[in-house]
Amino acid sequence: MSELNQIALKILENGKGILAADESTGTMTKRLQSVGVESSPENRVLFRETLFSSNCMRECIGGVILYDETIKQKSKTGKNIPDMLLEVGSYPGIKVDTGAKQLAGSKNEKITEGLDSLRERLKEYSKLGAKFTKWRGVYNITKDYPSKLSIYSNAHALARYASLVQENNLVPIVEPEVLMDGEHSADECFSKTSEVLKRCFEELIFHKVDLSGIILKPNMILAGASSKNQISNEDTAKLTVKCLKENVPSEVPGIAFLSGGQTETQATENLNLINKFNDTNFIMSYSYGRALQQSALKYWAKDTKDTNGTQKIFDHRAKMCSLATQGKWSKNLENI
Ligand code: 13P
Repeated sequence: MSELNQIALKILENGKGILAADESTGTMTKRLQSVGVESSPENRVLFRETLFSSNCMRECIGGVILYDETIKQKSKTGKNIPDMLLEVGSYPGIKVDTGAKQLAGSKNEKITEGLDSLRERLKEYSKLGAKFTKWRGVYNITKDYPSKLSIYSNAHALARYASLVQENNLVPIVEPEVLMDGEHSADECFSKTSEVLKRCFEELIFHKVDLSGIILKPNMILAGASSKNQISNEDTAKLTVKCLKENVPSEVPGIAFLSGGQTETQATENLNLINKFNDTNFIMSYSYGRALQQSALKYWAKDTKDTNGTQKIFDHRAKMCSLATQGKWSKNLENI
């Protein structure tokens, strides 16, 4: 078993998943302002270390994706954030893309940037304690999109990224996110996600990426958020498993879904059903941002000194997600 495969498994095995706390300063500012908290470096790290020192970390969170600012910050007690995570058995990870910019040649689509000087940045992050990385490609569904140009160019960037990351002995999270915004049907989401995944793996293989040392972070198969034809959670789970079975090579050890704008309970229920229907060898877990943090952030905003109260909410959410990775979640467990 390769070292990278071992890291990937350690992050996702035994009911663990990933906390995506890698919101850029711009996104984090929006999140904090939405709950009436000033977005200062102190407040950003305070909320994050409140989560990172929570009880659930040891049992439920195998890895945390950090943003450049956070991986260089210290906790209240003067500990480096990566050390704080390693002490509770959770691996520090780092977002290394520099964001999605307009794709030349296609007016309303995006290409993710960040390959320039990536090799040097990876060396720096590795020294700071990072064990894994994240890069997100983003695709929207309309009548004409995602275009072949967006599918091909984002897959190429994801593969170049993943190859450089493995060269530096880090595990790349490969995140091709087909957005849930729009009026499209679940069938369209299925076919577009299939096309996107297929192309990503063609490029990853072409770039000689060791597939046993990556984590795939995909979207679930959902009807567009404004579609009149929503499907049941059971159908989402069945279609999601089918899509991954058809398009992801079996060497990939683990899949960690993004929540993508689903509510906390919806993201948990869907993951639970996915695991009930999972007839593959892939570990199916979570790499949630909003679906792990939303309620905790709202509570924390009312009293940023109430660490225990905030942690209780985060612990509950993480426990629910962890149970969902084993198909052991049920709605009545939510009412505590
Ligand atoms: P959400 O779970 O909020 O979609 O965030 C996950 C993520 O890391 C997106 O890149």
